[in-house]
Amino acid sequence: MDEIVLLSGTACVPLMNRMARQLDVEPGDFLIGRFSDGEIRVQIKKNIRGRDVYVIQSTGAPAENLMELLLLTDAAKRASAARVTAVIPYFGYARQDRKAEPRVPISAKLVANFIEAAGADRVLTVDLHADQIQGFFDVPVDNLYATPIFKPYIDQLISEGQWMVVAPDVGSSKRAYRFAEILGNLPIALVDKRRVRPNEIESVRVIGDVEGMNCLMVDDIIDSGGSLRKASGALMEMGAKRIFAAATHGVFSGNAKETLSESPLEGIWVTNTLPPQDDRLPSNARVLDISPLLSEAVRRIHENRSVSELFIGKETWKTLGLWQNLEKE
Ligand code: R5P
Repeated sequence: MDEIVLLSGTACVPLMNRMARQLDVEPGDFLIGRFSDGEIRVQIKKNIRGRDVYVIQSTGAPAENLMELLLLTDAAKRASAARVTAVIPYFGYARQDRKAEPRVPISAKLVANFIEAAGADRVLTVDLHADQIQGFFDVPVDNLYATPIFKPYIDQLISEGQWMVVAPDVGSSKRAYRFAEILGNLPIALVDKRRVRPNEIESVRVIGDVEGMNCLMVDDIIDSGGSLRKASGALMEMGAKRIFAAATHGVFSGNAKETLSESPLEGIWVTNTLPPQDDRLPSNARVLDISPLLSEAVRRIHENRSVSELFIGKETWKTLGLWQNLEKE
């Protein structure tokens, strides 16, 4: 297989450019335009026969993002790429991932079918909403965790005082265990969150003793910000001291900016799996760069080396000699 080619949908162009620099390759030569009726038109402008192609695109709303990924993948496949990997920093349409209620779609499965039908030979993604979504694909899926990106900032934060990790809902409990272990077996608490409808929470109840503790909440997505706002309020009422949050995907829809800026959260870390929109960013939020992690995974996939070595965190990254690269970026 010849050298790496990077292509990108419009949601991930800055990420592709960073990855191209880190991988020491030119960004791919392609266009994404529109027909006059608004339909998307795609063309790869240079020969990619026999190449190892990576199509980078997050697939959250609008649905055009997903469409761009499918069209670029199809174009690469028909242009005789040796292998096409769909790099999906934020895998959208993941929250309907099972028939939790009558007459609902399993959107995550349908999207997986689309991506495979377009010709993706493998998938690289970050912090899937549910790990099981990997099984919706019949091609290999590497699901990275953003933990190594957050870890240096969290390490600095928790070097003083007593800290615990809090899952803002049951769905994030596995994630909370993973963080707690990596951060040195911190204690854990869980928020029991009940929803009336999507993005609207009826009640929250803290399970665990948080009195006098500093709390780090960990989640995959921040969308309306309602979950973190309610959970941080409940933690404060139960006597928590300081509250921070780390969430991989910062969607920040609707009033998230106000909701979170006015919450008891002192700090929120997200990554740039979605294009950071400064005007939607809460005042207490900070965006960390995920590209070194994605680039290293692409390098390893290209060279048929282990990707799971990237799952752990600072210590592993140090052993692998990657930590310096990350800090330089
Ligand atoms: C839910 O299952 C997810 O893990 C997130 O907690 C949720 O998507 C966050 O949404 P919002 O910010 O709208 O509460």
